[in-house]
Amino acid sequence: MTTPSLPIYLDYAATTPVDARVAEVMQRYLTVDQLFANPASRSHMLGWQAEQVIEQARRQVADAIGADPREIVWTSGATEADNLALIGFMRANRERGLHLVTSTIEHKAVVDTAHALEKEGFEVTWLTPGQDGCIQPDQLRAAMRDDTALVSLMAVNNELGSINDIAALAAVAHEFGAAFHTDAAQAVGRIPLDVVAQQIDLMSLSAHKTYGPKGVGALYVKRHPDIRVEALIHGGGHERGMRSGTLPTHQIAGMGEAFALMQQQYDEDNAHITRLQQRFLRGLEGVEGVFSNTPLASAENRTEKRAVPNILNVAFEGVDGESLLMALRDVAVSTGSACNSASVDPSYVLLGIGTPRALALSSLRFSFGRFTTEAEIDHALMLIHHTVSGLRSPPRQAAD
Ligand SMILES: Cc1ncc(COP(=O)(O)O)c(C=O)c1O
Repeated sequence: MTTPSLPIYLDYAATTPVDARVAEVMQRYLTVDQLFANPASRSHMLGWQAEQVIEQARRQVADAIGADPREIVWTSGATEADNLALIGFMRANRERGLHLVTSTIEHKAVVDTAHALEKEGFEVTWLTPGQDGCIQPDQLRAAMRDDTALVSLMAVNNELGSINDIAALAAVAHEFGAAFHTDAAQAVGRIPLDVVAQQIDLMSLSAHKTYGPKGVGALYVKRHPDIRVEALIHGGGHERGMRSGTLPTHQIAGMGEAFALMQQQYDEDNAHITRLQQRFLRGLEGVEGVFSNTPLASAENRTEKRAVPNILNVAFEGVDGESLLMALRDVAVSTGSACNSASVDPSYVLLGIGTPRALALSSLRFSFGRFTTEAEIDHALMLIHHTVSGLRSPPRQAAD
């Protein structure tokens, strides 16, 4: 087997490379000899043609989640979609109530937005997940109040890969007359998403977690019954008044193509990634003191799907995660959320599921993707074995 080129990229949950087929589509909408016109230009054919490109991408994204294209609002990414969902919904539905329910292990795009809402006078209940990283429907039911306007719980956790039962959670929210938002940035292409079957009212999406470009995403906003969202960005009234700003045709066409490819390759991608995950887990068996923070299928029920196969959060007992990260410079991984990598605080997500502080500080997130190879997994394992035993072995005595 040939040695893979270094560093080996095992940080697909932070971002994925743009698929070459997506990049090829994006290149059609930039230069003077191409379709670069403003899709909002109504006065010439080039504008209408660019608008058609946008509408085709809108259909591709809608198809991927079982939505109507008119329910897709383009944003700059899932962060903006989360802001629009939480702030936009709570402000537009004050008469429904001022109470929001979310969890302590949401992405910062939801956590910080909920804190901002608290400062604005809204009230937030913070649910604590179990050790499996999931919120149980009964737990949510106990937190619901007459004035709960919105529940926001993520579909797949970005650090653990744990999967929430969003259909069951949405059903509880609806029992109490509240709307249900889910951040599905890490879920697209990893678990089936269908906004109708799962009864989702608002869903945040991102292109760059699914082989599309960075800087573009979308918010699904249900039409029947109509979910009202107040704009955060004002301007030309684009996106039915919910999000103004000239639409970036190349970015949006890229997101559409990436989501269409995701649908075509869903089984193939997941089979490939599951094989890699199994290989990686087998390889780690030989390393002592290794624990998975990611909830894996139990030995009794191998088919049980508790986490997505592309994310594996692993604790190396007695090894400092930052030192491991430094020593493992030929493997690009993360000590939790990429946004927190500059900080030495343990991951709030790991602490949030009850991981002891020391073990949280010894944890790394490995994430695989479409372009990861078995040779890369094997080489990364070899480097991990070597590095972990090096960091664990006692320092040599100085010579007399
Ligand atoms: C669960 C989750 N939500 C939101 C985001 C933010 O997405 P974007 O980079 O598109 O703003 C991320 C990416 O890190 C994520 O993993």
